[in-house]
Amino acid sequence: AASNAFHLATETADFLRANLPEQLARPRVAIVCGSGLGGLAKTVNAEREEFEYKDVPNFPVSTVAGHAGKLIFSTIGQKNVPVLLLVGRAHFYEGYSMDMVTFATRVCKVLGVETMLVTNAAGGLNPDYAVGDIVCLNDHLNIPGFAGFHSLRGPNIEEFGVRFQPLSDAYDLSLRMLVHKTWKELKAQSPNERRLHEGVYAFLCGPTYETRAEGKMLRQFGADVVGMSTVPEIVTARHCGMRVLALSLVTNNVVVEPTIRGDHPDLQGLSPAEVDAYLKRGMANHEEVLETGKQAALDVESLVLAVVSQL
Ligand code: HPA
Repeated sequence: AASNAFHLATETADFLRANLPEQLARPRVAIVCGSGLGGLAKTVNAEREEFEYKDVPNFPVSTVAGHAGKLIFSTIGQKNVPVLLLVGRAHFYEGYSMDMVTFATRVCKVLGVETMLVTNAAGGLNPDYAVGDIVCLNDHLNIPGFAGFHSLRGPNIEEFGVRFQPLSDAYDLSLRMLVHKTWKELKAQSPNERRLHEGVYAFLCGPTYETRAEGKMLRQFGADVVGMSTVPEIVTARHCGMRVLALSLVTNNVVVEPTIRGDHPDLQGLSPAEVDAYLKRGMANHEEVLETGKQAALDVESLVLAVVSQL
């Protein structure tokens, strides 16, 4: 049982390799496409092989609207860097075990992937961030991990890594430097308002968005963005020795103002509709998350493409 995840991942990797032409069978970089970032699939080179998750042995099938599930083996850029795109991921809030959430990451390792580039849609906690900005992650808060829902809980899988994995260097510094350099070059070519930040990602289970008190707490804990993915994959990728780069697209601002009190002076004399409008300011919703993803996705895609071309 201790090495079950290793055997399952090996079985899946063997299946994929058996169904791939040689030049696509050893991806060096894996790119996890977050909510609304599936358009990355259009930017890879023409030669490709696709597998729907449902046709791949042992693979979890995502149940969220807007998260199609497929693996795309292809290449990126003029140097034809071999890549594996994971379009759609299994989230912990869907009810998957942490082993299922991190399964694709382990398959990447067995396939020989060296670098995991993980993208996601996230809520902005840092008041300096605007909707549509991009955040290169430099650290995280694994909040479910604090409570025992940790992706490496259980017997250590020796084939992948060590029992006590350090994470103080989880987010590869040279890759982050490359991201900033590349972003500057892209901006010089086509200037726009969007900004690239570096920040800390707080992982929550979800599926609910944050209450006001939770948003405020996360900000005080030092988080810049918050989301429901990425951290289990990052932890698992570091455990098995892959380099990690993670980009969040800020799709909404999280409400970090205090809970509104019923005796607030601003509310006195307002109609029920006005009270409702007051309350709804800045509230997150899934449609807004997907819509912002569409508009800013093109810039994230250009950035990913340019970064991976240099790996
Ligand atoms: N909170 C948590 N996860 C998210 C959010 C948010 O506001 N936006 C996109 N994913």
